[in-house]
Amino acid sequence: MSSEGSPDRPGAAGRQRQAKHLPVLLHETIEQLDLRAGLTVVDGTVGAGGHSSRIVERIGPDGLLIGLDRDPMMLAHARRVLPQDNVHLHHSSYSRLPDILQLENLTAVDRILLDLGLSSDQLEDAGRGFSFHADGPLDLRFDTTTGEPASELLGRLSKDELTELFQTSGEERFAARIATALAAARSSGLPETAAGIADIIRSAVPPASRQQHRDPATRVFQALRIAVNEELVHLQNTLSQVLYQTLTEGGRAVVITFHSLEDRLVKAAFRDKNRWQDLTPRPITARPAEIRLNPRSRTAKIRVVQKT
Ligand SMILES: C[S@@+](CC[C@H](N)C(=O)[O-])C[C@H]1O[C@@H](n2cnc3c(N)ncnc32)[C@H](O)[C@@H]1O
Repeated sequence: MSSEGSPDRPGAAGRQRQAKHLPVLLHETIEQLDLRAGLTVVDGTVGAGGHSSRIVERIGPDGLLIGLDRDPMMLAHARRVLPQDNVHLHHSSYSRLPDILQLENLTAVDRILLDLGLSSDQLEDAGRGFSFHADGPLDLRFDTTTGEPASELLGRLSKDELTELFQTSGEERFAARIATALAAARSSGLPETAAGIADIIRSAVPPASRQQHRDPATRVFQALRIAVNEELVHLQNTLSQVLYQTLTEGGRAVVITFHSLEDRLVKAAFRDKNRWQDLTPRPITARPAEIRLNPRSRTAKIRVVQKT
């Protein structure tokens, strides 16, 4: 059996410190899931188990929570906070949910939650390179057991391919300038740390644009992360097939997005009236009090559908 899809087991990651991630829009998410005792719920991005902890309280001992994550470190965090009895954790992408349900001898589930993007714990792990202040290598994979780290992708793509990637997956205005600077830096060897790569990106952006509230490296790191994890491929495949295929009639899907590329895909898929009743014609966003407490929630949007 491949590592993806296999029931998760304790490992070295399980001995790490407590998770720091604060679940976004927790109250709103739980409300939209419309939970009751005995339901079978999939948390497709279980992360540190913040949303899932509340879900298991609501579905009670007769319910079942199936938690998935591509990152073994996050599964270890989730395992620590979630009860064992009615929780099954799997190392898998949510796009492989049909295979997981087969392993579980289930044909359909009542609720599916996807809280996209990355957790604060991944961001703070300097060895992964998610933070552009990190002294670790630029990896950016959710699942470091498979695929290509971002440092290799940066070394492999042509200048034009990098430009296109930064434009399409980063929506970066200065994509061509940044790609040119990174490609030029390759001749003397790209820096080995995420922080070093971020410095090259910043230096390629005109000084007037460097002063804005967002670090110029933000969009480029987002583009590289999307590419190495094929994030939009997993999401699109799930939106077009997996959710509809695996939900029961009347079942609900709740999706939390963090940037416009994700949200556009979700919004378009949920418009299909033959499949879905759209329960959030306007997405739910965080209140100012939550944004103050947890700045990650600033760009979060919840969209909810019910299978017709
Ligand atoms: C924002 S965090 C989820 C946090 C979680 N809701 C909580 O309250 O702790 C997103 C998680 O999704 C995982 N992830 C990203 N893409 C995934 C995919 N295609 N399938 C499964 N997990 C994925 C990441 O590894 C990360 O742990």
